[in-house]
Amino acid sequence: MKLYFASGNSHKKEEMTRLLGGFALVLPKEEGIEFDPEENGSTFIENALIKAEALYSIVHQPVLADDSGLMVKALGGAPGVHTARYGDDAGKKLSAREKYMLLLKNMEGKEDRSATFVTALCLILSPERKYIIQETCEGEIATSPSGTNGFGYDPVFFVNDAGMIAAELPEGDKDIYSHRGKAARKMLTLLKEELNDKE
Ligand code: IMP
Repeated sequence: MKLYFASGNSHKKEEMTRLLGGFALVLPKEEGIEFDPEENGSTFIENALIKAEALYSIVHQPVLADDSGLMVKALGGAPGVHTARYGDDAGKKLSAREKYMLLLKNMEGKEDRSATFVTALCLILSPERKYIIQETCEGEIATSPSGTNGFGYDPVFFVNDAGMIAAELPEGDKDIYSHRGKAARKMLTLLKEELNDKE
């Protein structure tokens, strides 16, 4: 089964391929398809669906899309669907470090530091067959950054189940606990079922 991945990001593709046990994914740009839909949903599921439907309407073949972010309880669920753009304004984009330092600043004085990473995955097999899987990784926002592994907000995210800051987790271990790892494992079960049905 050929599966398109609704993203423009080759690193994301590599990560998702690994998480899906080597399942071959095709990026739209690899086939010269221009793809940059406006992610204006108010939830991760809406955004994953927007991306999957936009690409499906072009390729008319199975499509996978994802959307992720961080929800912090004391900030009313922010940055949420705006996680990738947190603190950016028209003129300036913050670096990953500037973003998590801004988060630490906004968390000053907050007693409840609980937070959740969320990933929504959307698989469209045909216009009538659509699957959504949403998973979480529960944690706490640390008071200072630590660790060098991972990306994004990992240096300030303490993973409850691992008892460690995400950026301190040995490479590979993060997949066990992460929102994306959990969602991808469930998606792989679904994809395997589809493949077996086709055999
Ligand atoms: P995306 O939808 O996967 O691009 O994720 C949106 C933003 O959430 C990213 O730009 C990261 O800053 C952040 N993010 C998502 N997953 C993680 C993670 O596992 N660790 C740290 N940051 C993450």
